Amino acid sequence: MDELSRRQYLDAMGIQQWVRRDSPQIEPEMEISEVISSHVKPVPAPTASTELGWHDLEVAVEACRACELHQTRQQAVFGVGDPQANLLIIGEAPGADEDRQGEPFVGPAGQLLNAMLFAIGLRREQIFIANILKCRPPGNRDPHVNEMQCCAAFLQRQIELIQPKLILSVGRISAQSLLKCDTPVGRLRGQVHRYGPQQVPLIVTYHPAYLLRSPDQKGKSWQDLQLALTTLRGETD
Ligand code: URA
Repeated sequence: MDELSRRQYLDAMGIQQWVRRDSPQIEPEMEISEVISSHVKPVPAPTASTELGWHDLEVAVEACRACELHQTRQQAVFGVGDPQANLLIIGEAPGADEDRQGEPFVGPAGQLLNAMLFAIGLRREQIFIANILKCRPPGNRDPHVNEMQCCAAFLQRQIELIQPKLILSVGRISAQSLLKCDTPVGRLRGQVHRYGPQQVPLIVTYHPAYLLRSPDQKGKSWQDLQLALTTLRGETD
């Protein structure tokens, strides 16, 4: 069977990754579904990170092979900044620069993000920056649903450990994944949402990569940053 067909069968069965058992016996008359069910072992998405401390979580992310992105990444990108920050910024996924350097938002979009932070009196070291995905999707394609599912427990544990006072979600993928919706960013921005059991305030804004392509939207992004600052002050006073 060719690689594409194999992938389609595995996707249809909800299997994200498979490993062969020691001595696969494939009979010529077997149906393909029988072959798969008798010779592959599903590797579940990480769920057991709920008790991991910061360091062990970092190690678990580096070692993760739950989805196929581990095959093409140079390294996993855990996140950067202060693990006790009040502000947590969540982007989409590492790009080529981030994959190479092991740090989120270091490419052109990262330069703009730095400038946006500087404009509101913040430096990267004072906040924490993470992504929905820890590994780069090849060719900078959108993350697949199963990849986001595989990574969700890692981000969830990061949020539990950081206990941010505010989450700034940048871009469509981040916002729709965190808020579990398919509403466009233009309708999600400009208001304070709540995230998770702790009801952490969450503000949505445009992704800096989008702002580089559509600089006329920077004004709205500036308004979102002002809302973020006011909300943060309200939460930390
Ligand atoms: N875009 C993102 O969403 N995250 C990064 O880390 C880099 C670019």
